Amino acid sequence: MEREVKEVVTPVAASDGAGVRLKRSIATQTLDNLDPFFLFDHFGSENPDDYIAGFPMHPHRGIETITYMLDGSVSHRDSMGNAGVIGAGDVQWMTAGRGILHEEMPRAGPRRLDGFQVWVNLPRQLKMTAPRYQDVPSARIPEVARPGGARVRVIAGEVDGVAGAVREIFADPTYLDVALPAGGSLEQPVPRGHTALVYVFQGEVTVGGGAAGGGQAVPAPRLVILGDGDVVRLRAGGAPARFLLLSAQPLHEPAVRWGPFVMNTREEIAQALQELRDGTFVRG
Ligand code: FE2
Repeated sequence: MEREVKEVVTPVAASDGAGVRLKRSIATQTLDNLDPFFLFDHFGSENPDDYIAGFPMHPHRGIETITYMLDGSVSHRDSMGNAGVIGAGDVQWMTAGRGILHEEMPRAGPRRLDGFQVWVNLPRQLKMTAPRYQDVPSARIPEVARPGGARVRVIAGEVDGVAGAVREIFADPTYLDVALPAGGSLEQPVPRGHTALVYVFQGEVTVGGGAAGGGQAVPAPRLVILGDGDVVRLRAGGAPARFLLLSAQPLHEPAVRWGPFVMNTREEIAQALQELRDGTFVRG
């Protein structure tokens, strides 16, 4: 069965960290979460004033954060001793588990800053797992050419038997960056029952509608929540288009969010805050 458009979400202007201006589609007043996705941010600007203040040292617990850069770069370091730079085309997949402190600081450069951050919730049994970190340089992300002209960067999941660069993630996620030429199209299987979304960030994409046409035209920048089914069809009009396609298994668990923590109960949030005050939040 074909997945069709369930809802089209217009990103809202938001400010986070020490004053980074971004477009937020999940974790807003109207869309708190899309189980298991608890945040979807698109940051993009040619003006360093919009991002240079960055995200100074802050904690996370109970989630995974995925940062994918299209352009520009972000330097980071964390309480596990990792440090580096996430550049154009690179991915950082960080499992916060029981707790991590990190900083994410965009660097002013000759080029614009453009990228995404997504939070994926962790299930109850993994909320307090050991923190883990996967740094994937652009060169290790496979790119697949599909019939219909689509070029697909496989960050996570599988396309035509090609496995994504990021693996062994609980929610069995798919994370694809798809470029369509003018008139191009993509037909992509998505497991039935998984939450699925499309984020159009360049041009206009027609979502759903079957092989015979129809569907709904969605211009950038918009997030599309897909209805259930096992395949999605996307096509570009008279101009090239680019979008992300994400899907993951929903958890169906109670969730309590407080800033950078997502836990199952209010008591667990209080516990995290207490540990931060006590200096016991990060364990070896
Ligand atoms: Fe963070």
